[in-house]
Amino acid sequence: MTGKATAVARANIALAKYWGKSDETLNLPAVPSVSMTLAPMRTETVVTLEPKLEHDVFELDGARASDKESARVAVMLAEIRDEARDHTHAHVASRNFFPTAGGLASSASGFAALASAARSAYGLPRDDRRASILARRASASAARSIFGGWVELPAGARGDDSLAAYPLFGEDHWDLRLVVAVITEGRKDVSSRDGMGISRRTSPYYDAWVEQSPRIAGTIREGLSKRDLAMLGHATEQSFTAMHALAFASSPFTLYFQPGSLAALSTVRRLRDVQGISVFATMDAGPHVKALCHAGDVEHVAEALAQTTGVLRTIVADPGPGVELE
Ligand code: DP6
Repeated sequence: MTGKATAVARANIALAKYWGKSDETLNLPAVPSVSMTLAPMRTETVVTLEPKLEHDVFELDGARASDKESARVAVMLAEIRDEARDHTHAHVASRNFFPTAGGLASSASGFAALASAARSAYGLPRDDRRASILARRASASAARSIFGGWVELPAGARGDDSLAAYPLFGEDHWDLRLVVAVITEGRKDVSSRDGMGISRRTSPYYDAWVEQSPRIAGTIREGLSKRDLAMLGHATEQSFTAMHALAFASSPFTLYFQPGSLAALSTVRRLRDVQGISVFATMDAGPHVKALCHAGDVEHVAEALAQTTGVLRTIVADPGPGVELE
């Protein structure tokens, strides 16, 4: 059988952060995370079954991918082949349509698009839960990109390979915006995977993080449900500051901040404390600062961040849909 399918998935940004694993083999998070799917940050992946191929071929943005990237793709394809009982190899072409150069994670949208497109190309029926499980094994944040709007990935119990993300609220639930203040081009940071491993093994604050995370995620869920930006925003800031404090206190220390990150965080605080705008910050395993605000304030927030020393430019994202499959 030969098949072909195309899927589009979007990146997501965690408000409640996933940082630390309960099971490294199955790639299960030790803490619950809650994210927003980002409309403009798309990855399109085409999977074509090719009986003549002796191994899978993976192209990323028009060029042959590295061995490391190809290996993670091949692992997922092998799992799908087993389920579909079809051992034909596949050609995978993935393209990122991000309104930016490097430095913003595309692995979440990439693995979500791959899981969905590959399942379909191998003739499996659409099943977002199963696609989310596959994406989670490759990269846990990718499990959330299967769904649109506001999405939760619970913590996983060791050995529980059935863990998947699920949608909390659709993209029309709340008209919030996320402004990304881009601090550097390219990526030279410690990867999330390495950073969270160092935190788990060496940070004196790791156990406190695991213990406190469910409470923070719960407040974020409640803030979303009540459309209460102050409640959501303060808990979002607690999640990212705790994650970065724990990473910073690890050995060797893991520091994602650059001078521009601190300046952008000051801008967010000034907008809130001095100008009374409801805007809250978050950061991931990199220097960019992401500011969450109401749609009506987004121009003002983006302008203030764009004028901040150390901020190269800004990108505005609205809540986006889940995977689209052709
Ligand atoms: C800081 O999903 O990239 O972005 O499961 O090891 O591939 P692996 O990690 P990954 O980690 C994302 C960490 C984060 C927070 C988040 O997205 O929840």
